[in-house]
Amino acid sequence: MICWKPFFRRSLLNDLLLQRVLKDARGRVAKKLRISVTDRCNFACLFCMPDKRTVKWIPQNNFLNFDEIARVVRVLASLGIEKIRITGGEPLLRLNLESLVRTLTGIDGIREVDMTTNGWHLAEKAESLKRAGLKGVTVSLHSLRRDRFRQISGIDALPRVLKGIDAARDSGLSPVKINTVAMKGYNDDEVIELVEFARERNISIRFIEFMPLDGLGHWSPDKLLTGKEIADLVGRHYILHPLGREKGDTATLWGFEDGRGELGVITPMSEPFCDDCDRIRLTSDGKLLSCLFDSRYNDLKKLLRESSTDEQLEKYIMECVYRKPAGVAYMPWVRDGWTKPRAMYAIGG
Ligand code: 5AD
Ligand code: SF4
Repeated sequence: MICWKPFFRRSLLNDLLLQRVLKDARGRVAKKLRISVTDRCNFACLFCMPDKRTVKWIPQNNFLNFDEIARVVRVLASLGIEKIRITGGEPLLRLNLESLVRTLTGIDGIREVDMTTNGWHLAEKAESLKRAGLKGVTVSLHSLRRDRFRQISGIDALPRVLKGIDAARDSGLSPVKINTVAMKGYNDDEVIELVEFARERNISIRFIEFMPLDGLGHWSPDKLLTGKEIADLVGRHYILHPLGREKGDTATLWGFEDGRGELGVITPMSEPFCDDCDRIRLTSDGKLLSCLFDSRYNDLKKLLRESSTDEQLEKYIMECVYRKPAGVAYMPWVRDGWTKPRAMYAIGG
């Protein structure tokens, strides 16, 4: 029997190259880019960072410089990328990040640049980031108890992070959101306190399911606190209005009866949202990842430093995106102790 499949696939890819869109073989179109600007972090969250004494940091000279990042973004924007989130490691450890923000916000087609940060440098940086054009900021906060914060994030930083959150609101960055990695046996008894903290400030809190992308190998199925468990728990304390999940978004949302704050759950483990994923990632060393769980690290840096043309970059990127894996929803082995190629600190959440 003749198998026509490869023939059809090839012609589909050729069509996409002509259309200049970032579409994968399953028809998903990439619209958002997450840029990890460094793998370094002054925190050591136990669900992210490996042992800092043995970790193999990405050598600094492998980091894309801001001109290289801007060039990749220009190419990607011309192929349909509209929104950017800057991540790390801790992105604010990268010197003069404001200048990158300013450049990226000025690129044709880029509608929005946001950042995810641990909050350590936020109090002193919020205003200059806002002036540079940053839209919103998501601050990671996994506990409101000082001791426990230190246990989870490896640093006594709670007061400083809280100041950072308030400074972000005062500076006009919007939206300000909180990300909490929910883990049984670590912070599951704090869900309501964290929700109340966000509601007091009228901001959104999103609980993320613990993913096996941790550097220490702490992940296990019994530590997973699912989005459903969180929503049920919060629903016993408040009247919630389901707002659903917007296509391409990661969070399923609820509003509160009094309109203050917002609850989100991000459920990559219990209810993956791979089928409408519109995100791709660029690592600090210039690897293009079409999926958080992909083990193919497509080396854009090599092309950039070999003086490739924009057309060559475009073709390479479109082919990478075309081969985007179906995602964690189709990788049952991830839930049974799979070992990750890179931990979260070096991918960017
Ligand atoms: N599982 C889920 N979320 C994680 N993050 C880091 N590591 C993990 C993990 N293993 C979160 C960070 C940050 C966001 C970018 O991803 O805390 O809020
Ligand atoms: Fe640093 Fe964020 Fe990883 Fe914590 S989760 S160690 S703050 S990069």
